[in-house]
Amino acid sequence: MPAFFLVALIIALLPAASASAQSPVIDSARMQTAVKQSWTQAPPEWQTRLTQDETMAACSQYRNNPPRVVAQTIVAREKASIKYPADGKLIGDWKKGQKLAQSGYGGRFTDYPPRTENGGNCYACHQLSGGELSFGTLGPSLLEYGKSRKFSEADVKAVYDRIYNPQAVVACASMPRLGANGHLSIEQIKDLVAYVMSSDSPVNK
Ligand code: HEC
Repeated sequence: MPAFFLVALIIALLPAASASAQSPVIDSARMQTAVKQSWTQAPPEWQTRLTQDETMAACSQYRNNPPRVVAQTIVAREKASIKYPADGKLIGDWKKGQKLAQSGYGGRFTDYPPRTENGGNCYACHQLSGGELSFGTLGPSLLEYGKSRKFSEADVKAVYDRIYNPQAVVACASMPRLGANGHLSIEQIKDLVAYVMSSDSPVNK
């Protein structure tokens, strides 16, 4: 399981704290300690990921349903993390993007030290092209995503932003922050944008 899912998953597994007097109270400090103690074998460069950043802490506090002002603060902070290609071109090679969308490599203990590039793991959550044998449904289907948006420049940028950092679009989004977390490079994100948004990509056939 990629490391970037771990903290979110552990939080999702915690019992819900409802208004009821019977509900367990979550001791955040104890939870953080338990997470840290569970991953002592994690490589040093992954250890920082065991500590929630400001956005994750706010999403945990409000159980992914932050009040408006908090949501706006999250979106503004996460927007500032997005880096764009120097030449301004957001569309790369869809064929490379297709391979990345199908690859779940990276972030698992068996992937360390890295033997190949990290993948985007998009099919774990989305349908993209029509021919794929299996795909997850946590995210919406992206079949004909570019075509249905007339391949507009604004939507190309929106897809780039979404892959780089989904929390720049939706506060406490369930999609991982693949660019902001350094899991994918700018070049890889361009290739994934091409897979979703090019007219010759199987996603739009
Ligand atoms: C862990 C599951 C997960 C993974 C992995 C994931 N996504 Fe998502 N994605 C979502 C969810 C859930 C949404 C809906 C909004 C939200 O909550 O983030 C979404 C939204 C989107 C949207 C916007 C859809 C719309 O309604 O306009 C795009 C585009 C997208 N994802 C592309 C990708 C691409 C490309 C990849 C691979 C690099 C990817 N996603 C990987 C879960 C995921």
